[in-house]
Amino acid sequence: MEFSRPRLLVLGGGQLGRMLGPAAARLDIATTVLDPTPACPAAATTDAQIVGSFADYTAVVEAAADVDAVTVEIEHVSTAALRDIASGGIAVHPDAAELETVQDKLAQRRALGEAGVPGPRFEALPDTEDNAERHAAAGRFGLPAVQKLRHGGYDGRGVAVLPGDAQADALLPGASYLEDLVDIDRELSVIVARSVSGATAVYPPFEMEMDPDLNLVRAVLYPARLPEEVLTRAEDVARRAVEALGGGGVHAVELFATRSGEVLVNEIAPRPHNSGHLTIEAAETDQFEQHLRAIFDLPLGSTRMRGPAVMTNIIASGAAGQTAYRGIAEAVTGEGAHVHLYGKRQSRPGRKMGHITVCRDDRDDARRAAEHAAAVLTVTGTAQTGR
Ligand SMILES: Nc1ncnc2c1ncn2[C@@H]1O[C@H](COP(=O)(O)OP(=O)(O)OP(=O)(O)O)[C@@H](O)[C@H]1O
Ligand SMILES: [Mg+2]
Repeated sequence: MEFSRPRLLVLGGGQLGRMLGPAAARLDIATTVLDPTPACPAAATTDAQIVGSFADYTAVVEAAADVDAVTVEIEHVSTAALRDIASGGIAVHPDAAELETVQDKLAQRRALGEAGVPGPRFEALPDTEDNAERHAAAGRFGLPAVQKLRHGGYDGRGVAVLPGDAQADALLPGASYLEDLVDIDRELSVIVARSVSGATAVYPPFEMEMDPDLNLVRAVLYPARLPEEVLTRAEDVARRAVEALGGGGVHAVELFATRSGEVLVNEIAPRPHNSGHLTIEAAETDQFEQHLRAIFDLPLGSTRMRGPAVMTNIIASGAAGQTAYRGIAEAVTGEGAHVHLYGKRQSRPGRKMGHITVCRDDRDDARRAAEHAAAVLTVTGTAQTGR
């Protein structure tokens, strides 16, 4: 096959684009990112940044003027632009139809349900501002339940657990739906790559430990602490979920393993994902290179893990302001520890500023080391202004 420095446009220039950059450079793919923040995290590792909004039709169409392929690192992009770009013959992965499905969590649930992929029972809430009417509908659905906004949620924003005695004013405003409150044993993520010609490659399940306060992934563990039989089922469910949505590239399928032994799909991200960062050091092929292979229809790489690994996110604390790191010297000294800082110039409490992956022969050793490294490496904002 002919492969001559293809040009890729990435919509969004955050940490995912920053980590995609080195994989693109290895394969001699020229990357441009479109992001509204000058000197965005991805600008440091890619060939060029266009400052502009990935949600803006004209900005996206113009940025794609002389590329061979377009991908995203964020779901909330102009799909109208992607549709027109694709009809002009440029490869777009994931495609507009898939992005529109995942942008609307209810549409996503419906698509998975129609394909017979297991998930929690769900039902749309009436689209009205009349809270009493919505509360009555929630009562008929059955509380406790989880309310989710159809659009725009991330990192747990847009998700509300409604207890059995929830009052009408507990409902989130906005177009939303309800789903059963799942009795979660463990949360899993399965990274599935689907190449343009339809080949798939599935990584073994990673366990996601959530931070209940921040609603962020606190740690990702490999191997996951579940029986082999459940893990095999999770891989199968994840593969079917990605087939149901139909797009190309890497996908992360978030799953619930329930206390009664079921495996249910929570949601799908049609892109590399926080839960897959440990593939950079611990897998034969990392999720970013795998994504590029899928988009450019190269043979997919091995998903074999070289050994146990644990990833922890580095979350900003303290004041908001110009980013300052403390404790980096100690964090980088741990055996098997790999520190990734995302280069976000501004720190805000709760913001994801980096991650640490520790590879050790023993998962629980790796976990202790990763938690230690994440505890000694603190990120806060300083009062200074400027760059
Ligand atoms: N039906 C459910 N039953 C029990 N817990 C749930 C349910 N849905 C979501 N949760 C919990 O809330 C978390 C966030 O939900 P979800 O993944 O839908 O939101 P999100 O805002 O897209 O999050 P993120 O951006 O972090 O992926 C889940 O990881 C899980 O811990
Ligand atoms: Mg989620």
